[in-house]
Amino acid sequence: MVDYIIDQNLAILAVNNPPVNALSHHVREGLVEGIKKANANDQVTAIVIIGKGKIFCSGADIREFSNHAAIKDPVLTSVGHTIENSGKPVISAIHGNALGGGLEVALFCHYRIASESARVGFPEVLIGILPGAEGTVRLPRLSGLSFAMDMIASGKQINAKDAFKHGILDKVCTGNILEEAKDFAKKVIGQPLDSRRLSRINVEDASNVDAVFEVALAQVKKKYKGQIAPIYCLKSVRNSAKMSFDKAAAEERRLITELMLGYQSIALRYSFFAERSASKWRLPCGASVNNTKPSKIESTGVIGAGTMGSGIAVCLIRAGIPVILVEKDPKMLEKGMETISGILDGSVKLKRMTPGQKAKCMEILKGATSLDKLSNVDLVIEAVYENLELKRQIFAQLDKVCKPSTLLCSNTSTLDIDKIASATNRPDKVVGTHFFAPAFIMRLLENVYGSKTSPTTVATVMELGRRIGKVTVLVKTCYGFVGNRTHQCFGAEASFLLEEGCLPQDIDQVLEEFGMAMGPFKVSDLSGIDVGWRIRQEVAKAAGFKLTTETRYHNGERISTVGDSLFEMGRYGIKTGKGWYKYDPTNLRKPVPDSDVADVILDHCAKMGLQRCKIPPQEIIERCLFAAVNECFRVLEERVAEKPEDIDVIWQYGFSFPRYAGGPMFYASQVGLKRVYERVCFYHEKFPYSSHWIPSDLLRKLASHSVEIPMSQWKEFVNGSKL
Ligand SMILES: NC(=O)c1ccc[n+]([C@@H]2O[C@H](COP(=O)([O-])OP(=O)(O)OC[C@H]3O[C@@H](n4cnc5c(N)ncnc54)[C@H](O)[C@@H]3O)[C@@H](O)[C@H]2O)c1
Repeated sequence: MVDYIIDQNLAILAVNNPPVNALSHHVREGLVEGIKKANANDQVTAIVIIGKGKIFCSGADIREFSNHAAIKDPVLTSVGHTIENSGKPVISAIHGNALGGGLEVALFCHYRIASESARVGFPEVLIGILPGAEGTVRLPRLSGLSFAMDMIASGKQINAKDAFKHGILDKVCTGNILEEAKDFAKKVIGQPLDSRRLSRINVEDASNVDAVFEVALAQVKKKYKGQIAPIYCLKSVRNSAKMSFDKAAAEERRLITELMLGYQSIALRYSFFAERSASKWRLPCGASVNNTKPSKIESTGVIGAGTMGSGIAVCLIRAGIPVILVEKDPKMLEKGMETISGILDGSVKLKRMTPGQKAKCMEILKGATSLDKLSNVDLVIEAVYENLELKRQIFAQLDKVCKPSTLLCSNTSTLDIDKIASATNRPDKVVGTHFFAPAFIMRLLENVYGSKTSPTTVATVMELGRRIGKVTVLVKTCYGFVGNRTHQCFGAEASFLLEEGCLPQDIDQVLEEFGMAMGPFKVSDLSGIDVGWRIRQEVAKAAGFKLTTETRYHNGERISTVGDSLFEMGRYGIKTGKGWYKYDPTNLRKPVPDSDVADVILDHCAKMGLQRCKIPPQEIIERCLFAAVNECFRVLEERVAEKPEDIDVIWQYGFSFPRYAGGPMFYASQVGLKRVYERVCFYHEKFPYSSHWIPSDLLRKLASHSVEIPMSQWKEFVNGSKL
């Protein structure tokens, strides 16, 4: 896995482990052998380490973490010591990228040069660990403490120019990297090596270390709330300045071991693989990403220029896909076009886009007030009000207007795709493309197949998701799909807790401390209390009953209508300056608890004769999360989701469930399914009028085993295939 090539007086060690030249065991062995062989050859005067293919090295082989191959000799540090102790100069020649262990290999070398387009970084923190092969001890010796702390704790990648500026590289190359490495090597032959060995030199700004650490710590605690690894990264860099090199390196090993065994890192590594597995979709008929080709999408239509339609249009045009935006009246259309232009201006302001790129996006966006204009597009996404009859009418009309091959997608958040598809003569080409608000920011796209959706249609919308940069998950149609259906239980319990003793800020605080980016009431203010109200009204209408603020039960099901009282007061959330919280118009980002809301809740309880009491934080977490977890198991049981990882990805990207807690399914697996099942049964007995507490059959089956069944095997218990 490491090619050894003699070129004149140079030994070239070319890492050859496609696709990313990961540092698997055989690569590590190959590097040690190569360095030894080159040192034993009198003809060789210098050694160049390079990557074959497009990159130098993207780091450790993450698959080895679970089978202990990562700690099989030679481990990366002993490879590194062999490199550093080489009596002949070793030059790393970086192209593409040098990440994680790849950058550590470069730091063991005596010299580092890189192509202009190369990037370097330590992404370890993103999987809850730190660069554990002396990366935290070596980098500060080149870049200084402050820069090393920031780079390692953030996991960010930097370009070659910046790496040169901060002393990480000795040269940035514009020509062929191997040729330039050979020239560079010839120039350094015979020069003393000791000052090039990072383990032998000191950290320059060591005397400032405590002050630098305090500043970095305050920033990290704010930016990465609740996360342990970034703090450990800082501590390890601090050690590099406070201890001898060897002692700091030993401490680094202790810290990485602690992180590696901790919950957050296990969850983050799980999340990394869960996200990858989500794109590997599969339908019950056997069609899958491996055997189905997507159709070409070169033009699209979006219907409705409201919150979602505008956001979806932005996602498409940003990816260079032309959009015809259709609204029913010209004023709404104008407003929608302005919203889109404003969103793109925001990107320009944040330097995520140049003014020229914005202009290009606007060029491929056309407005229209008639569906007839969509006759020639390849795909349409409907984003009008959440009303089944309206959506059916629009789909029937689209079926007549659009060419036969056009795919018809709905952004409905809850409605059954089959009921929408049946309004057309092409149900095989009807599919749900459920974006999350704000669509131009939220990374999740939940694609929903109906009973007649064809594999090609599925393949096309999955590919579209990838093209527009979304994390795309495929699920089967049912009320609310996976995201909203399971999240609704979480939201319902949060509302019930208001009726039992909590205020919105109490619940938000507990769930934010658990790790959610925002509590459910802050989210509700952001997405709009009116949106939830409209959905509840639609559900009530479909079920044929009238929902009022006095309603407590329907069909034996407990209902909370506190939010509807706020809706009736015109408190829709941030958009009206008041919702569950109040907002200062000059600072809409800061929700302020409002005593008026407390009064509404207390009045509601008094009117309904509801007793209030103090509810401990643990109960808040259990009530919200276990209710959702139970529904998640039901969703698996019904094969609405194909695998538990899909559900966790939906919660991470749709509802900001902390990646370092994995997702509701992973969380349940860590709590232990027996415990989860017992608590679900307890709450079911306590709250018999909430059907989401009826224990899922799958959860019961899994919990009944004397040993915990690993997540990867849960699916085998679906449909009674195992007891
Ligand atoms: N807002 C959210 O948080 C959110 C999130 C995910 C999905 N959704 C779903 O997206 C859809 C749209 O929601 P929204 O929040 O953008 O609603 P919205 O009220 O902001 O926008 C709907 C738009 O559709 C337009 N419209 C209505 N009938 C039309 C017709 N016949 N032809 C053309 N335009 C028409 C309206 O003028 C309005 O501008 C709904 O199905 C909703 O459930 C909403």
